Amino acid sequence: MAYVTAQHLKYQYPGSSDLALNDISFSVRPGEFIGIVGKNGSGKSSLCQAIAGLIPNFYKGAYGGKLLIDEMEVRGADAGALCSKVGIVFQNPFNQVTGAKLTVYEEIAFGLENLGIPREEMKRRMEEAMELLHISQYKERYPFDLSGGQMQRMAIAGILAMRPEVMVLDEPVSQLDPQGRREVFEAVRLLSRQGITIFMAEHNMEQIADFSDRIILLHEGRLVCVDTPRAVFSRDDLAQYGVQPPVFTRLARNAGVRLEDGTYPVTLEEAEELFAAKRRME
Ligand SMILES: Nc1ncnc2c1ncn2[C@@H]1O[C@H](COP(=O)(O)OP(=O)(O)OP(=O)(O)O)[C@@H](O)[C@H]1O
Ligand SMILES: [Mg+2]
Repeated sequence: MAYVTAQHLKYQYPGSSDLALNDISFSVRPGEFIGIVGKNGSGKSSLCQAIAGLIPNFYKGAYGGKLLIDEMEVRGADAGALCSKVGIVFQNPFNQVTGAKLTVYEEIAFGLENLGIPREEMKRRMEEAMELLHISQYKERYPFDLSGGQMQRMAIAGILAMRPEVMVLDEPVSQLDPQGRREVFEAVRLLSRQGITIFMAEHNMEQIADFSDRIILLHEGRLVCVDTPRAVFSRDDLAQYGVQPPVFTRLARNAGVRLEDGTYPVTLEEAEELFAAKRRME
């Protein structure tokens, strides 16, 4: 499984005078679930595209530093090699459907066909991906007849069938209803448990705190920190980056209730446990 390393990564869109990514460095272990947060325009999507190699292979502009997946530098990497290492899922499921396929099955097969995978192997991978994402029962459906959550899971299955070691998801649930959000988050959690390294940009801090091993906080193209959800959301200076911590963190902070290491809880479970312990002490 893959390590992902950014070394002084810089990027400027063509015609722009600001750096969308400004000297970003981090190292992520295989199988980590990394949340990417920051206010609008902070560089989340740009970072997602740089990890997936769309920047600078597809989007031109000024690029500096390196993004490595294991030993492979994404810049200039062969498209086939890149697809077997890293896949990307975007915000709007509708934009990811080819529009040329009549069934969910054919839609998921599309990427694999382009990779020239033998038939039998392809079939095996597809069945596996559809099962994992709980969409096998829709395989004969017309792709546009799916709900948003089902469609997004279909997009993820298409990427998953290519067996990437790293999966990047840029706000994959922001267009979905609560049911669809849950379906997709649970699906991504399963992928993470299979050892796939996950990068996920997301605005919902409760969910990102719950799912992430570590969080990358961006501000104006710079990396503010990469740390555990508790460490990130316990920072005193979050407001200045336009990020509001999860509601549980705010409640605990207002009540002056901290964990032993001085951080505040970030999930419902952590907060409940802490408040219960506090009551027992009183
Ligand atoms: N295609 C583009 N051309 C020029 N500038 C761009 C382009 N895409 C993004 N930018 C600029 O790059 C910076 C980072 O944008 P980016 O889309 O990565 O932010 P983001 O954190 O994903 O924002 P959001 O929360 O709105 O999705 C912003 O200043 C944005 O205006
Ligand atoms: Mg974005």
